[in-house]
Amino acid sequence: MNSQIEQVKRLAGEIDGWLSDAEGELLYKLAKNVPKGQAIVEIGSWKGKSTVWLAKGTEAGQKNKVYAIDPHRGSGAHVSEGEEDTYPTFLVSLSKAGVINRVVPLVMTSSEAAQYWQGSVGLLWIDGSHEYEHVKRDFLLWKQYLLPGSMVALHDCDKKEYPGPARVAEEYLVNSDEFVITHHVDTILTATKRR
Ligand SMILES: C[S@@+](CC[C@H](N)C(=O)[O-])C[C@H]1O[C@@H](n2cnc3c(N)ncnc32)[C@H](O)[C@@H]1O
Repeated sequence: MNSQIEQVKRLAGEIDGWLSDAEGELLYKLAKNVPKGQAIVEIGSWKGKSTVWLAKGTEAGQKNKVYAIDPHRGSGAHVSEGEEDTYPTFLVSLSKAGVINRVVPLVMTSSEAAQYWQGSVGLLWIDGSHEYEHVKRDFLLWKQYLLPGSMVALHDCDKKEYPGPARVAEEYLVNSDEFVITHHVDTILTATKRR
């Protein structure tokens, strides 16, 4: 096993979150392969677990920026338990992993960030709100910035408790002339935009 990936596994393992090691490794490899000058956009960072995998991946590749979009007001399940601002913990995660300069935090919703966005996206990672309408909105708002050959990755595509991501994947990726499915690792489904 690649020792770099083992090191990221250890760092990411110290951060709360739902991402499996296999899913993290997939994000690392996708980020590593993004061509130079293309942005990596993350919708839903929470405490930074997937952000660290993405940032370490591009560090090993073309050293692109990871734009980490999250209003940091707490994730759905945790707000009811009193969770408030996740931004300080997110920053600590980036700092401990040594990737603070690789990541541009956008502390806002995906819709707000899309209003100001300019430039192309080489990898779009969607792990925000899992409601169908929200996943669909995130995908449709951001897919316009994907270049031919760019990747999109959706989390939680086969969790029964969250039918939203699976339905979006089915409607917009699986049954699509625009995208080709490329990976299915644990609950992540990825697709490439056709050239
Ligand atoms: C499942 S967590 C993300 C987990 C993270 N990717 C990880 O690896 O641990 C979902 C996150 O999405 C964020 N979120 C919810 N709605 C959002 C939106 N409209 N735009 C961006 N982020 C959003 C929440 O604040 C929460 O932190």
